[in-house]
Amino acid sequence: MRPGRRKLLQRIGELRANISATPISDIAVEYRGRTHELALKHESLNPTGSIKDRTAIGLLVEIDRINPLVPGSVIVESTSGNLGLALARLVRLLDCNFIAVIDEKTPQPTRDSLTESGVELRFVDEPDGQGGYLLTRLKAVRELCAEHPEYRWPNQYHNQANPLIHEHTTGPEIAAQGGAALDAVYIAVSTGGTLAGISAHLRAVAPGVRIVAVDATGSVVTGGTGGQRLIAGLGASRASSFLTRGSYDKAARITPAATVAACRMFLEDTGIALGGSSGSVLCGYLGDLGPLHFPRRALCLCPDDGSKYLGTVYDDTWLDTVHIAEDVHGAVARFREDGLRFRVTAS
Ligand SMILES: Cc1ncc(COP(=O)(O)O)c(C=O)c1O
Repeated sequence: MRPGRRKLLQRIGELRANISATPISDIAVEYRGRTHELALKHESLNPTGSIKDRTAIGLLVEIDRINPLVPGSVIVESTSGNLGLALARLVRLLDCNFIAVIDEKTPQPTRDSLTESGVELRFVDEPDGQGGYLLTRLKAVRELCAEHPEYRWPNQYHNQANPLIHEHTTGPEIAAQGGAALDAVYIAVSTGGTLAGISAHLRAVAPGVRIVAVDATGSVVTGGTGGQRLIAGLGASRASSFLTRGSYDKAARITPAATVAACRMFLEDTGIALGGSSGSVLCGYLGDLGPLHFPRRALCLCPDDGSKYLGTVYDDTWLDTVHIAEDVHGAVARFREDGLRFRVTAS
């Protein structure tokens, strides 16, 4: 075996073994005259700040298993940001190279970090007619791989290693950290890999837990119609290859205005800035807090934190640019009228 390859193999093994459980914080949610118990699981505490650190490891281990990587191998992937950051770190550790196909929705801080990590960026600017750029990004990846057959495409949208890593890591963590009393989990969907993997584990060990897929308005992942989407990382313009009808019990499609309102109120009440899709997940949970029926102990999986969204979700100028300022203020007023307050009780 070539010495470079041996070192790379050892590093891949270490990466897989070093995935460690992300922490939970306990939140009291006051809403419509009741106080509810909510657990938040913070995926922002993974090495590059998002749940995609797990996905990236799963994908690289799998492409290496099929056809061994060697130092200098070129990996190409379509990403809206978080997977790109995660792959950039790993690919560098493995002495390989990475071409990320991104679009205008990729936040500027993410683009800067990718460039600083030595990633080659390919920018796609042709909308795909489904409210995003995913289909044109995938076309660009296919073209690159046709021109350079030696390039390696992990393909997060199709590769079963995506859900499998969550079945083997995120799912068992949620089952252990949520405890026996856990009765509902709320999970954001884009590729659907996170939810499909967690669901495969929870359905086997805790079949009573209700699983809610949190999607964006304008996304087709859980069966909606394609349209404009504003929250990075949430939803997609194509159906998931991983989700089946049995993967989740309910889908909640959340508007950008409700998402931004939830993120801003959570920040105001707790001092914690969540990522955009985490705000959507909170909205999915709030939608289930009915007067008679509500989850007694729920867990919201937070894919990342607010640091990448200072120029969007947390920026008033951006709200004006995308014409949702009035809707956000309306949503905040309605939530507050319903008594919504968040309080951290343990972290
Ligand atoms: C911020 C954020 N939220 C949610 C998701 C959805 O995860 P999945 O692709 O596993 O469905 C992603 C995926 O990129 C993400 O970056």
